[in-house]
Amino acid sequence: MKILVLNGPNLNMLGKREPGIYGADTLKQLEEGVISAGLKTGMEVVCFQSNYEGALLDEIHSAESRGFNGIIINPGALTHYSIALRDAIAGIELPVIEVHISNVHAREDFRKHSVTAPVSIGQIAGFGFFGYELALHAIKDYIRGRG
Ligand code: DQA
Repeated sequence: MKILVLNGPNLNMLGKREPGIYGADTLKQLEEGVISAGLKTGMEVVCFQSNYEGALLDEIHSAESRGFNGIIINPGALTHYSIALRDAIAGIELPVIEVHISNVHAREDFRKHSVTAPVSIGQIAGFGFFGYELALHAIKDYIRGRG
């Protein structure tokens, strides 16, 4: 099973960016952690981060033809307003799980609304980097159940 893990705008700044909210660990540590969690459960994980909406859309559009079975995405702030990202997720057959490091429901009101969650199979928020590992287990179970 091959899973694409996408991180959106500002997530390259993990470790420096609001550490009280997002922790002191870096994107590299996040990606290494999710790759090794994948290996333990027999999943190949490929990670990609971009600050550009279009680059994330290109990754989503091409994921199935590149052999991916599912996508885990933390869209960052795009979560709250990107209809383009929502349409990209809605337009593919692959299952998508949305992850947030922080508990978006316990923060500012504008973070409580996700335009992408309704077209995803589910959302995981508030468990830090561990949320990506939880999403790996969830997507594996979903894909198996569907197959
Ligand atoms: C975030 C939450 C978003 O509201 C924010 O814009 C981010 C990170 C999270 O992982 O908690 O960039 O997606």
